[in-house]
Amino acid sequence: MNETVTAPRPVDEIDLPVLPRFGPRDPARFEILREARERHWLARSEGGFTVLRYPEVVAMHRDARFVNGGNVSLRRAGITDERFLSRRPNPFLRAEGADHKRLRKLVAAAFSVRGAEKHRAFMRAEIDRMIDRVAAAGRAELIEDLFDPFPTAVICELLGTPREDWQLFFGWTRDIFQIYTGDVGASMDRILAAHQELDQYVEELIEKRRRVPGDDLLTELIQAEEAGDRLSTEELQSIVEAVLLAGTDTTRTQLGITLATVLQHPDQLAKLQGDPSLIPGAVEESLRFLSSVGGQPRYVPEETAFKDVIFPADTLLQTNFVSANVDPLIWGDDAERFDVSRKPTAGNGQLTFGIGRHICLGASIARVELEEMLATILWRMPNIAIDGGVEWRAQAGAGMWGAERFPVTFAPSTPAIQDREFA
Ligand code: HEM
Repeated sequence: MNETVTAPRPVDEIDLPVLPRFGPRDPARFEILREARERHWLARSEGGFTVLRYPEVVAMHRDARFVNGGNVSLRRAGITDERFLSRRPNPFLRAEGADHKRLRKLVAAAFSVRGAEKHRAFMRAEIDRMIDRVAAAGRAELIEDLFDPFPTAVICELLGTPREDWQLFFGWTRDIFQIYTGDVGASMDRILAAHQELDQYVEELIEKRRRVPGDDLLTELIQAEEAGDRLSTEELQSIVEAVLLAGTDTTRTQLGITLATVLQHPDQLAKLQGDPSLIPGAVEESLRFLSSVGGQPRYVPEETAFKDVIFPADTLLQTNFVSANVDPLIWGDDAERFDVSRKPTAGNGQLTFGIGRHICLGASIARVELEEMLATILWRMPNIAIDGGVEWRAQAGAGMWGAERFPVTFAPSTPAIQDREFA
């Protein structure tokens, strides 16, 4: 691992490990990544290169020469419909430099730790309401009953959308997420129609909130002002869409991963049941141990020297969070073990929310969602156990990954008890 620093050389002249195709839960994943990571920080992989070690993933995310490569990888996968591509990646991911700083500044307060904490009570009540429907039966399908509707309900609540309209949002997110789960080409008409309906709805909601302000994110964004600068209607529309899309599939898939990981480690489950103050640490550890977002695409339009490598113009790379999140440089020799009491020995913690200027805007909100869901399930579903098995999405790669079906049994329970001790 202790390489001497060498002068940068063209990537084609360097003897790099080659990553085979493997699934995110492949039992061999840690071994495959470990072997490659020990040889070099970079590997060849399908469609380009993969960055494996923690320091290089962090450095690349912080380096402004590496920009979002989402659209390049979609184009290379044969998706060329401009109506679809022009909306991607979201305005935050697309923007760089002063434009990006301006956008982040205007929305910073709403997405701060304090901003997220304001929604904890709503989240807890909403989860309780969902569990009330299945509590007496002692049986649930966690995806359908909880993880699928919950993140969309949270975003609707953030935006101040009336509850009677939530079903519309459930439909739009389901259609738009055909991007990750289905055949994008075949679903294109449905995806574009959902975009259009969402645009129209949000435009009307913006008009309403301009006339009658509410106590919600949309009103906050309408009123947000930095040195006389305000967001235009089109910007507001695209921010709402960005938040809805960036904040739903990511969270629902991570909820499944977090719960499955905890239930599959009975010793860690027992620790959590005995000491709920470990919940925030368990959420952080589950994000590290198995992430719904496996990494991010990065792209260099120009020839670029980075560390000991020169990438030619038009190179597509993938930063690999799964590998960086178990890099022993940061996590020690037992990095591949799930331990809810773990503290990182160095670095900036797990990288599942990214790092640097594009670090996840909704990380504080997602953390509260994960904490409340884990705590409430453990509290309200005593003796919870996976009923048969969890069914996982087949797809690996750069897209979101997680559970499709997650049946559980538990001791039938009584209505919600609100005064549990946590947070
Ligand atoms: C467990 C759930 C989540 C995960 C794993 C996740 C992951 C990520 C990652 C890795 C990035 C960085 C992308 C890059 O560097 O190219 C990102 C950006 C972003 N996320 Fe999340 N996210 C989650 C939840 C949310 C939520 C709940 C929201 C909104 C409420 C949200 C909104 C955003 C936005 C707007 C960006 C773009 C930030 C920018 O470019 O400046 N995310 N997310």
